[in-house]
This record gives sequence, C-alpha cells and structure tokens, in this order.
Amino acid sequence: MKILKNISLQPFNTFGINAKTQFYVEATNIAELQSILKLSELKNSHLLVIGGGSNILLTKDFDGFVIKNNILGKTIIEETSDYVVVKIGGGENWHGFVEYAIANNWGGVENLSLIPGTVGAAPMQNIGAYGVEIKEVFESLEAVEIATGKLKTFNSKDCQFGYRESIFKKEAKDKYIITGVLLKLKKHSHQLNTSYGAIKDTLMEQGISNPTIKDVSKAVISIRQSKLPDPKVIGNAGSFFKNPTIDKIDFEGLRLEYSDLPGYVVSPTEVKIPAAWLIEQCGWKGERRGNIGVHTKQALVLVNYGGGDGSEIKKLSEDIQSSVAEKFGIVLSAEVNFV
Ligand code: EPU
Repeated sequence: MKILKNISLQPFNTFGINAKTQFYVEATNIAELQSILKLSELKNSHLLVIGGGSNILLTKDFDGFVIKNNILGKTIIEETSDYVVVKIGGGENWHGFVEYAIANNWGGVENLSLIPGTVGAAPMQNIGAYGVEIKEVFESLEAVEIATGKLKTFNSKDCQFGYRESIFKKEAKDKYIITGVLLKLKKHSHQLNTSYGAIKDTLMEQGISNPTIKDVSKAVISIRQSKLPDPKVIGNAGSFFKNPTIDKIDFEGLRLEYSDLPGYVVSPTEVKIPAAWLIEQCGWKGERRGNIGVHTKQALVLVNYGGGDGSEIKKLSEDIQSSVAEKFGIVLSAEVNFV
C-alpha cells in the first residue's frame, strides 16, 4: 500500500475541483482495506471514502485521510436457467458493469446505463433513473465496518432503501465501506421498463417496437447524452438536488397559481415535483458565474466549466435553494454530499 501526501483530488471527483487532501491511499482488496483502517495516522484523522467521486462537492482542502475503493472483480455466485447472481467489487465502474450485463443479455440494469460512479457507491444512494432503482435487482452487499475492520453483510431490508436513500446515508453514515455488491439479473422473460416518456419516444424515433435489453440501454444512453454533461468534458455530479415531495394539498394550491407545474403522485397524500422545473422557473437555467454555473440543458445539474471552486458552487446552490423557497415555499435538499 502506498500512502500519498498532499495530493490534489482533482482527478478523483467528477466536478473536477482542485482541492487537496492531506493523505491518500487506495485499497485494492479487503485485507488491504482492513490494514489501512488500522493505521495510526488514520485513527486521528477525518476520513473520506471515495468511489468514482461522482456525488461529492469538495468545498475546501481536505484535512484528513482519503481512501479510494479500488476493489475490483465480477464473480457469478449463483446461476439458474432464469437468473444469475453476480458479485461485483465495490471499486468497479458502474457503467462498466452495466455493459458487461448487457453483453451477457442479462436484464435489470439497462435503465441505469451511463450513471457515473462505482458499484460500491450505487446502493448508498439507491441510484435510479428512467423508472428503475438499484434496489429492484439488489440481493445483498458486503461492507467493512470502519471502527472494527469487520466484514458485515446487509440484505435489502437492512439497507432501508428509499428515493436516493439508504441506511448508509442515515444511521450507518460514515461507518462502513461497501466492498462488494450482489445483484440478481434475469436471463429470461425479463420485463423491460419502457414506461418513462423519453424512453418510449426515443425507441419510437428509432422505429423499434419490440426492444431488446440492449435497445433500452442504447435509448437511455442517448437520452442522457443529450441532456446531461459528460463529466470528462464539463465537471458535474449529475442531479445536484433531490426532487422534492410535497403534500397533495400544497400541490393543488400551487397548481392554482402555476397551472403547468408538473408532479407525479407517489402516495395518496404526496406528489413529487421535478426540482429542475422549479429551478428553471426561478430563472437559473444556463446561469453562469465565472467558471461555474447551471447546465444549459438540465437545470438540476450544476457545472464547473474548469477552474471553479467548490465553495462557489456551494454558494450558487444556496442561492438557488433560497429563490426556490421564496417563490414556491419548497425547500430543496442536496443530493450531492458536501466535503
Ligand atoms: N425539467 C425542467 N427543466 C429542465 C429539466 C427538466 O423543467 O431543465 C422538468 C420537466 O418537466 C421534465 C422533468 O423536469 O419532464 C423531469 O426531468 P428529467 O426527466 O430530466 O428528470 P429529473 O427529474 O430532472 C431525475 C433524476 C436523474 C435521472 C432522471 C431520469 C433525481 C434527483 N434525478 O431527474 O438522476 O437520470 O430523473 O430518470 O431524481 C442523478 O441522480 O444524478 C440523476 C441524473
């Protein structure tokens, strides 16, 4: 294991923020991770575990120890004629795994194509897109407890999945490092989810009426590429805020004033509203402040055009929150984690 000192984290966060860390180390297997956790330097420091760095905003230099999870591997744990259970190393690139699943014609993760980040980070916020969340194919995960170095297993119930939520963002926050994830994918009779309007439209444009798993993945990739900036070109962390859920009564009240307010009923009493719509209505879409701004094609995505500072992006996000709260009385909460 090689401990680096005072290095820039720029290559390790998709916002491309040039903040430094005091210590940096990569873990390539569980035993190595367990010995890193015993290091005396680490015991007295702040700890930040990163995967693909695609859901963090570095607001300043990090005075502590960064561990990058580089635990790789894809192993078939169980296989029947109907399904396969695959164990994937937490450090594997998520989309790389999706491509592997699609190459094998295994169904379940095609709607989650092209999501940046790693497999280990995926259950943490129950990644979701185009009508599917990882919890639908989730079997279990293995995680090392930071305090003890012990390896523990969490099943779906233990993970307490919700919309962009899991136990790892609540009571287990900063307590575990996810080293491996087991997903169950379908080999036959997979029910494709093409209910999302944009997927239907894209398939129709392509003249595809009987889509395959690969067709759906390709449609999702083309939708994402048309709306979301490629982090390799423009720094970003995908959706910056979560879509808020409000009371149906409040929704109906707002509709009297804003008749085109979009909303999706999520329970008999609650409606989820696209944060992008609220942000756009407040005039923020395409806003530019020097090196940072709000993406021109998706108001929910904040961007670093290059050389931007994390604290500037944080300030922009707070200004957006204030104006949305003032205009609509809705408080947006960040999906991205501030460091
Ligand atoms: N909209 C606007 N202005 C915009 C963009 C969107 O008004 O600039 C409105 C439109 O009414 C549109 C609606 O927002 O119909 C929904 O937009 P979109 O389909 O782009 O999805 P989203 O709600 O903005 C969510 C996820 C994305 C995920 C897409 C597709 C959250 C926080 N975000 O975005 O996830 O890819 O749905 O399922 O739930 C991410 O989490 O990083 C992410 C990119």
